[in-house]
Amino acid sequence: MPLAIISGTHWGDEGKGKMVDFISQKANMVIRAQGGSNAGHTVVVEAKKYVFHLIPSGILHPGIKCILGDGMVIDPADLLQEIQFLRDNGWEESLPRLFISEKAHLVMPYHRLFDQLQESFRQSSRIGTTGRGIGPAYEDKVARWGIRAVDLLNLDTFKKKLQLVLNYKNAILEKVFQKPPLSFKEVFEQFEKYSDQLKPYIVNTLPIIYDALASHQNLVVEGAQGTMLDLDHGTYPYVTSSHPVAAGSLLGASLGPLSNIQSVGICKAYTSRVGEGPFPTECLDQTGETLREQGGEYGSTTGRPRRCGWLDGVVLKYATRINALTSLVITKLDVLGGFSKIFFCTHYRIGNQVASELPTDPFDWEIAQPVYQELEGWESDISKIQFYNDLPRATRDYIELIEDFIEIPVAILSVGQDRSSTIVRKEIF
Ligand code: GDP
Ligand code: IMO
Ligand code: MG
Repeated sequence: MPLAIISGTHWGDEGKGKMVDFISQKANMVIRAQGGSNAGHTVVVEAKKYVFHLIPSGILHPGIKCILGDGMVIDPADLLQEIQFLRDNGWEESLPRLFISEKAHLVMPYHRLFDQLQESFRQSSRIGTTGRGIGPAYEDKVARWGIRAVDLLNLDTFKKKLQLVLNYKNAILEKVFQKPPLSFKEVFEQFEKYSDQLKPYIVNTLPIIYDALASHQNLVVEGAQGTMLDLDHGTYPYVTSSHPVAAGSLLGASLGPLSNIQSVGICKAYTSRVGEGPFPTECLDQTGETLREQGGEYGSTTGRPRRCGWLDGVVLKYATRINALTSLVITKLDVLGGFSKIFFCTHYRIGNQVASELPTDPFDWEIAQPVYQELEGWESDISKIQFYNDLPRATRDYIELIEDFIEIPVAILSVGQDRSSTIVRKEIF
């Protein structure tokens, strides 16, 4: 059964959007499994840039069905903005190919508010969230206060749920945070409009997905965020509130543990992180600055400068296991051009111990010192290269070192933003 799950190996922004678009050229369906508009997935086609926050990154392929899956939290205002962006850019055709799972949860105005209030309350221990209401929306899902996409199809149900939840949220706003309550009338009227606009897209997505599987179509599950931002497997509490790992993608895309899954890890040639939290290979010197400038490392969603450092192999090995990766894609290789030396972190030194496994204790993450293998860099511009064997020997040495280290093949290399700047060694489909 041809199913490819695409997951980020580190802290997000590995180039998943570009690679989902690329791999989807041979697919019939793309399902975004989890997260919400905290994600920012960039696709560049013939120099035109698209940044998707909610809409699957496969949408630019005519004929492909795109599903906003069960595990997502969707802010209707953000989604309508993206739909409008597609309309304004000549992609009206794509809209009938867009489906929202009835089970997906809605990000409500109080979620954004609580995201900000909770971050302020944490003061110096803030997470550095994207401020999109993601944590509070998942909290409500788990606490069973959530309002789902299906509720927009029946405004009587929606009204009853909203009344109850808003009474509760307003009590917290007023009594805990000393903030003014939200007006039921205003929120309801806003969502009446959203209901009208989004109704055509909200469906039971299960038959669509299972018909595609039954007819042996190629499916791509688009992960958002990255392994180290996973609620269980990441650098908790500096994580997002969902499950970016491959198992979370299955759950969020209404899929079981099917056989013959391609689990594809997307790994940047160096590492970045946005927001607070541990990052052992972060370079706080000129190297970090150069990586950020050469790599254009500014958030696709919030515009925040991303923290940058050398590739963390300890995390990569962990991600390989947790996601049961069958192959790896290395992106942004071109960005390393011009460094005389490249460094790859193979271990950490934690106190007087050498650790090859990722620690769980947050204290260890804070004090972990990277141990690097040093490689020769390359001076030349590799962004126009189309074939693996045409890459400089030093670039291939770097790829082959990574391959040997994690013991899975590097199937695809990305050497530029554009869809066309991609070198395939092994096809995914
Ligand atoms: P995502 O969240 O994993 O989809 O990644 P983002 O889109 O947030 O960030 C990746 C950034 O790197 C985007 O600006 C991409 O256009 C860009 N990008 C992706 N692959 C490459 C590459 O191979 N080379 C360069 N120079 N830029 C790339
Ligand atoms: P893509 O899909 C990078 C980070 C935030 C913060 C933490 C929690 O583009 O790779 P949240 O708003 O989710 O509660 O924030 O997670 N974060 C991301 N970092 N890329 C993302 O998505 C991210 N989505 C969330 O910066 O540290
Ligand atoms: Mg991103």
